[in-house]
Amino acid sequence: MPKKIALITGTGSGIGKALAELLLDKNYKVVGYSRTNKIIHTNFTFIKIDLSDLVTTEKLVFPEANKSEVLLVNNAATIGTIAPFNKKTAKDIITEYQLNLIAPTLLSQKFISTYKKNSKLLINLGSGAANNPISSWSTYCATKAGLDMLTQVIAEENHKNLTVFSVHPGIVDTTMQKKIRETKPDLFPLLSKFTNYYTNNELENTGTVAKKLYYIIQNFAEFTENILSIRDVNIK
Ligand SMILES: NC(=O)c1ccc[n+]([C@@H]2O[C@H](COP(=O)([O-])OP(=O)(O)OC[C@H]3O[C@@H](n4cnc5c(N)ncnc54)[C@H](OP(=O)(O)O)[C@@H]3O)[C@@H](O)[C@H]2O)c1
Repeated sequence: MPKKIALITGTGSGIGKALAELLLDKNYKVVGYSRTNKIIHTNFTFIKIDLSDLVTTEKLVFPEANKSEVLLVNNAATIGTIAPFNKKTAKDIITEYQLNLIAPTLLSQKFISTYKKNSKLLINLGSGAANNPISSWSTYCATKAGLDMLTQVIAEENHKNLTVFSVHPGIVDTTMQKKIRETKPDLFPLLSKFTNYYTNNELENTGTVAKKLYYIIQNFAEFTENILSIRDVNIK
């Protein structure tokens, strides 16, 4: 019977799927929250949910965990509509803030209040975009900056039995990067930079990122900062 429980948003593809599969290999019980699913495993529960929908997200109830160690990974996010700020619609803006910032905020709060007595680790998937203003990524940069600050405030509050990190994964070979490369050049001035990352084989693979996240999960006490870059994690 697995003792450790991981709740991971965005297990349909990319980093979230790779991390879920790795934690299942390590005997975790994993609950995945996304719109689609390809993982089949005895210890995996799939909850089909659209986290850009505020009402559905508010109603989400986390499973009972008795005395288990619990991990929440707020991973689901979207790069959104890549376009200059004045070309984004109100619907784009609301949906992107909801998925990237409001959902992780609500889930983090729910996590802390549901598992008062459990030992808890909260990992938000941040981004270097939090610290770099990138043209045509207004909501993505703003929501990732917000997520880093949320992480730091939660850490500052020193909640009982809780450790919290925002982890910046670097540039990773996922559908998010594919979507970035498929943007029309007139909408995204940095397009060639991102196509070059791909053609020069500079994208990290999701398996490596999952292994480094697992290292952080296993060795969280050795990290003194709350905002981590996966590039600084050297697996011994
Ligand atoms: N890839 C990079 O270079 C990079 C760089 C910096 C930070 N990150 C961060 O890393 C995290 C994972 O990104 P990724 O690269 O793995 O992207 P991805 O391959 O596009 O995966 C996004 C995940 O979020 C889920 N998702 C999307 N919309 C959703 C919704 N409305 N409701 C519920 N789930 C939803 C998707 O599953 P479904 O489609 O099944 O719902 C998928 O599992 C994100 O927080 C991203 O900002 C990525």
